[in-house]
Amino acid sequence: MLKSGPRAVQTPRAMRFLPCLLLWVFARVWGQSEGQQENFPFRCLQISSFANSSCSRTDGLAWLGDLQTHRWNNASDTISFVKPWSQGKFSHQQWEKLQRLFQVYRSSFTRDIQELVKMVPSVHYPIEIQLSAGCEVYSGNASENFFHVAFQGEYILSFQGTSFQRVPEAPPWMEMVTRVLNGDLGTRETIQQLLNDTCPRLVRDLLEAGKPDLEKQEKPRAWLSSGLSTTHGHRQLLCHVSGFHPKPVWVMWMKGEQEQKSTQRGDILPNADGTWYLRATLDVEAGEVAGLACWVKHSSLEGQVMILHWADGGHSAVGITIAVVAVVVVILLPSLGFCYIRKRQRRAYRDI
Ligand SMILES: *[C@@H]1O[C@H](CO)[C@@H](O)[C@H](O)[C@H]1NC(C)=O
Ligand SMILES: *[C@@H]1O[C@H](CO)[C@@H](O)[C@H](O)[C@H]1NC(C)=O
Repeated sequence: MLKSGPRAVQTPRAMRFLPCLLLWVFARVWGQSEGQQENFPFRCLQISSFANSSCSRTDGLAWLGDLQTHRWNNASDTISFVKPWSQGKFSHQQWEKLQRLFQVYRSSFTRDIQELVKMVPSVHYPIEIQLSAGCEVYSGNASENFFHVAFQGEYILSFQGTSFQRVPEAPPWMEMVTRVLNGDLGTRETIQQLLNDTCPRLVRDLLEAGKPDLEKQEKPRAWLSSGLSTTHGHRQLLCHVSGFHPKPVWVMWMKGEQEQKSTQRGDILPNADGTWYLRATLDVEAGEVAGLACWVKHSSLEGQVMILHWADGGHSAVGITIAVVAVVVVILLPSLGFCYIRKRQRRAYRDI
């Protein structure tokens, strides 16, 4: 009898907690689906622009996940560290050696492209070449690497395992280029060493040293504004989300619980402080704005949703303007008047 009492109470209590439990589980799953990044690929980008036979530039950048780690300006002989931990555990000598390798590569790359234009009649200036290479390390000792090249914005070449491979859609002259590249055993071995060994080693160091920066959680700030719609009788509602880290974020215009599928997301843009900015736009008929809200989900919010209700921005802005004018009229003008009177009085006293 006594024992069944508490148990009888327990069942309803468990039932009462069930929705909370479900919400918690939901929040966990939701949080994860927001893209809690587990792996951080290391990507080195080379951007080379050849305006004509004598004018060209090559710039380099490196990113670990969403964080920029290195920068190599065309005008500079040295690779700059963007983060205090960008050198990893490489010694000064090791880093110098690596840098010299890239210096030699940069000047021979420029020369080779200039030679290519002379040799291949169908290749003309201006030329844009982009190269993306790097690696990603996984738990244990596993890693993967990649090496892709684009010419005039089209993907044409990759390095796979031990050799270069042109993509089938590449222009015909790439067959000769690929053959020449693959004939250079020294270059192939160097690339394999960089991709198979140097890159994963650096990335393991960077993941360790940069952990606080990589896992930093910065909460988003959000605000609404009104834009100009291109369609007559429509309004454009803007939801600005800024200052968040990491990069994955979910922003949606909602009516009640319903996603407004016509929400347009801009690109996620970098802020100067390493956080991110995103704008989500909704174009609606002027009479349809009631009940709309912008929802923001981000890993830093730990499963909570930030909701900003649209409270006709236009009107409230006008309201604020009126209030400011009223303050000026009620407070400032009389005091200005008072000062004026005081001044006149003082002058009057001086005149005496
Ligand atoms: C990981 O790989 C490196 C060489 O890349 C090797 O020296 C090391 O012993 C390996 N570690 C493990 C745990 O397999
Ligand atoms: C580098 O890794 C590739 C596989 O990605 C392998 O085929 C190649 O033999 C490796 N080369 C060296 C020098 O370790």
